[in-house]
Amino acid sequence: MSLEKGSHLEEARRQYPSEAREEATLIYIIGAGGFGREVLNIYIDLGREEEVAGFLIENCDSPGSPVNGKPVYDITLLDSIDTTGVRLICAIGTPLRKRLIENTKGKAYGYDSVVHPSVIKSKWVAFGEGTIICAGNIFTSQIDVGDYSIVNLSCTIGHDVQLGKYTTISPGVNISGRVTIGDECFVGTGVSIIEKVTIGNRSYIGAGSVVVDDIPSDILALGVPAKPVRKLDLAEWKRLV
Ligand SMILES: CC(C)(COP(=O)(O)OP(=O)(O)OC[C@H]1O[C@@H](n2cnc3c(N)ncnc32)[C@H](O)[C@@H]1OP(=O)(O)O)[C@@H](O)C(=O)NCCC(=O)NCCS
Repeated sequence: MSLEKGSHLEEARRQYPSEAREEATLIYIIGAGGFGREVLNIYIDLGREEEVAGFLIENCDSPGSPVNGKPVYDITLLDSIDTTGVRLICAIGTPLRKRLIENTKGKAYGYDSVVHPSVIKSKWVAFGEGTIICAGNIFTSQIDVGDYSIVNLSCTIGHDVQLGKYTTISPGVNISGRVTIGDECFVGTGVSIIEKVTIGNRSYIGAGSVVVDDIPSDILALGVPAKPVRKLDLAEWKRLV
């Protein structure tokens, strides 16, 4: 595969011609770290590996170098190539992905959403644009997952649950019925949330916590039961994630 700027995309288009699918799509995964590789795995498990044209990252030192067989380019590539039929997916596991998503809106044909084939869900579950639903999740009834939110591995999400936009649910989280979680929240690994609880926007729930009361916006909460520890601002968010 040529490493010349943009030429790999032409190569990907040749390998995956538009006649191959009703909606011809080539995907760039934003982020080539651990979660980026996991999102590539979802495309592989869906039988869509050929659709992935590569990864995009900020400040790429060696454009074209592969990660798990796909070339990595600087995100500014989107300003210099023909993005017809190109869609993006943001595999940054923290709510700070919002900045990258907002900066890239309009530079491609929108955002893809992926749902791992192992996911169990009813027909009363809606996933927004740009959502990433990893392997082993179970969603029951009347559940909305907001745009650009991520539900990582092996969570259970009960009835009448609303997740906001840009929110991250880490592996092994159990969310009971009638729970509402706001925008740009981070729920750590193994958290349990009892029924009818509301978590405000931009709040962070530490790993292993048990949430039994409402948590206001912009709060770090921890423990069993989870208690607010302190207010969070952007600088503190950057330190924690
Ligand atoms: C809460 C968290 C963000 C750390 O916050 P922090 O402000 O840097 O906290 P510190 O590490 O300085 O620890 C402060 C105190 O909180 C305790 N603490 C840290 N995380 C805790 C948690 N999840 N639950 C209970 N107590 C916790 C520490 O033991 C420490 O206690 P001490 O003062 O008695 O020694 C981090 O521990 C955490 O839970 N991150 C979630 C990571 C995760 O789930 N990632 C998913 C990847 S897919």
